[in-house]
Amino acid sequence: MDELLELAISIAKRAGALLQERPSQLSIDTKSSDIDIVTQMDRASEKLIVEEILSARPDDGIIGEEGADRPSKSGYTWVIDPIDGTVNYFYNMPGWSVSIAVKDQSGTVVGVVYAPTINSLFTAIRGGGAFENGEPLKCNNPIELNRALIATGFHYVESIRSQQIAQFNKLILNIRDYRRNGSAAVDICHVAAGVVDGYYEMGLKEWDLAAAELIAKEAGAIVSIHGELTIAAGAHLHGILSGQLLD
Ligand code: IPD
Ligand code: CA
Ligand code: CA
Repeated sequence: MDELLELAISIAKRAGALLQERPSQLSIDTKSSDIDIVTQMDRASEKLIVEEILSARPDDGIIGEEGADRPSKSGYTWVIDPIDGTVNYFYNMPGWSVSIAVKDQSGTVVGVVYAPTINSLFTAIRGGGAFENGEPLKCNNPIELNRALIATGFHYVESIRSQQIAQFNKLILNIRDYRRNGSAAVDICHVAAGVVDGYYEMGLKEWDLAAAELIAKEAGAIVSIHGELTIAAGAHLHGILSGQLLD
């Protein structure tokens, strides 16, 4: 597991360095809706990550947001979001990340979320705790709803956004405040780090969640998935958020 983590870190750092050489012209295509974009740099980052994985571990499987898909012969599969927060990247706003997880039959074994523009490298090994730039992480707990700083995000598809409006409105009068930072992976790592108290969002994909979920759990948070809805927070607030959002 240590070797897998070291490899995942070195690949995430290489992808982050590539992405920081941001071209002045970004070409975009759209995906699930007109506002869901992919740039040439999402594709270049995924290509670099896949090449590095396969040169070190040719029998591993891969699931990548931009289409990398390869069955595993070794029992290990890498789950990649080559840029989480493409909209931030497109606008040159800090906070986007590279998310890399490795899973086996029992779930995620290693998670790395690298956000170079905010100098954060979040890492975890299953059963081994969570870290930011080598420092151990612990989520905030117990936090009451009326003191909670909550991160969230909004889906690119209108039908899901409509449901998110109802959730957003339900909580806004009862919490300290919201933050919408632009990378779900970083938001969930920020729960791990106590930079926010909680997080929820609808419509996350496996590559948004895999690495950050392990990091948050290893920092003591509860991360639960209810259909399309993901909730992450320390145990006390997680119970309250679940009660409100699943009501
Ligand atoms: C998105 C980001 C965003 C979240 C969206 C995701 P992408 O990922 O994580 O914060 O609100 O739901 O799809 O498209 O930038 O990889
Ligand atoms: Ca994503
Ligand atoms: Ca992405």
